[in-house]
Amino acid sequence: MDYKSIILNQLNIACESLGTQAGVIEVPPNPEMGDVAFPCFGLAKALRKAPPLIAKDVATAIEQNPTVEFSNTVQKVVVIGGYVNFFIKKDALVSGVINEIETKGDDYGKSDIGNNKTVLVEFSSPNIAKPFHVGHLVSTALGSSIERIYSHLGYDTVKINHIGDWGTQFGKLISAYKRWGDRSVIEQDPINELLKIYVQFHKEAELHPELEDEARHYFKLLEEGDSEITQLWQFFVKASLTEFNRMYDLLGISFDSYAGESFYTDKMPEIVDILREKNLLEESEGAQVVRFEDDNMPPCIILKSDGTTIYATRDIAAAVYRKRHYDFYKNIYVVGTPQTLHFKQVFSVIDKMGFDWADNCIHVDFGYVRFPDKSMSTRHGDVILLEDLLKMSIAKTKEIILESSTSKELDDIDSVAEKIGVGAIIFAFLKNSRERDIIFTWDDILDFEGESGPYVQYAYARGKSILRRAEDNNDCDETSDVYMPMTEEFELAKLLNDYESVVLEAANKNQPCIITRYTLQVAASFNKFYNTCNIMKSVGQTRKMRLKLTQAMCTVIKSALNLIGVDVVEKM
Ligand code: ARG
Repeated sequence: MDYKSIILNQLNIACESLGTQAGVIEVPPNPEMGDVAFPCFGLAKALRKAPPLIAKDVATAIEQNPTVEFSNTVQKVVVIGGYVNFFIKKDALVSGVINEIETKGDDYGKSDIGNNKTVLVEFSSPNIAKPFHVGHLVSTALGSSIERIYSHLGYDTVKINHIGDWGTQFGKLISAYKRWGDRSVIEQDPINELLKIYVQFHKEAELHPELEDEARHYFKLLEEGDSEITQLWQFFVKASLTEFNRMYDLLGISFDSYAGESFYTDKMPEIVDILREKNLLEESEGAQVVRFEDDNMPPCIILKSDGTTIYATRDIAAAVYRKRHYDFYKNIYVVGTPQTLHFKQVFSVIDKMGFDWADNCIHVDFGYVRFPDKSMSTRHGDVILLEDLLKMSIAKTKEIILESSTSKELDDIDSVAEKIGVGAIIFAFLKNSRERDIIFTWDDILDFEGESGPYVQYAYARGKSILRRAEDNNDCDETSDVYMPMTEEFELAKLLNDYESVVLEAANKNQPCIITRYTLQVAASFNKFYNTCNIMKSVGQTRKMRLKLTQAMCTVIKSALNLIGVDVVEKM
């Protein structure tokens, strides 16, 4: 029920009759003051009157000429100082919201505002033969959520994994492999073994700098398509992807495209040609660069002095390809804050090339993950491997569940622990504004009573358990009383009513945390309702509506958690 629009519409009619226009509405600081407030301060100048007097005039004008919709929605209008405050009819709102959620089911909160326009979301993008570290996990969780949010709003989305599978480091890796590599050992544990020989290469190259020349030679062969070298490279790519896919399976994430950096190698000469034609390339110490008017932005290197292309060149080629291939409405890159300058340069070069769609390329950045807990550093020193993190979370969750009294009712404890353990990490990563650093401690992440994933999942499971028990003793006589919602029921329904606008705001700001925080509010509101209104002991119409409200909460929590990539569990 869009009560805010109904009230705004009524305000517009009233203000017009007073010879002015309505401004914005607000939510009063506490529910006792009403559900919507209209501040009259902005009208004082035009009407040459004090705000409290204007507020009275507006209230009178509304009372004299209310629309049918307004009368059906609003219970009373009161003037408090310079504000006109509105109280919504509690029963109308609660039953309106319940009915809407019941009718729409899983489609509740969806919209077609996207109108099938294409939104590309590039996320995860790990590097071949390098560990999938926690920064990639944040990108994976954030990007997948952003994609789900756009898709929920009717956009056609494409999930792209821009794998780091090209660059001079592959020359080094090939050289290292030829010296110390053992195919069968690598097949057992690809990323660790490849990393090992890569590190060894760097050590040796310090003593024997000629190794660098050898590596350059191998990369050149790779660029030229030499068959033996290409096969080796393919082996590295395939082995690494097998490992990455294990993570994606655990997270329930898939991609539509794995076109990584190598995909764009043959698309770069055209980019260099366009830049040259438009006189955008300048020489700088043997390299070809694009300079910017903005003095704070260093030039973007396009071709290195040896004629090879770099990361930025591949990104420019990728953007041009994506525009041609997908004709995107938005092209989103979910990549950490350290790459802010890189994307600014890339988008500026695209703009200089004369492509007006440069403005539709968006870098969605995020902060670092910090581990105050020293024990979190693993065998790789500073790098915490994603798989270790997920497995630890699942194991710790299982311990917590086993200690609880309800664990005996669970027949699939491992799958429950997996959903809660993985969900807890995703939830923690998406809880705060993405630009902020994430402080990772197990105490916060697995705090079943704090601002955590398990807390929200528990509200859902509790709701489901009530609904199951109610089914077992279905004794409601619906005619025996008249339902009048209590404040807790009304507040919960009002929150559920906000769902669609919450999703919209999350999309407009590319901030999944808006949804994450919303799920915490819904869970807390449900707990209040549960503790105040004794659902199982209530009777008649009241019981029926309370059960329906519980079901409505479950529908919304399930949908909202799904948008951030967290599964619900029916029992926990
Ligand atoms: N592979 C890169 C890294 O691990 C991230 C790629 C980001 N995407 C891009 N289009 N440049 O740092």
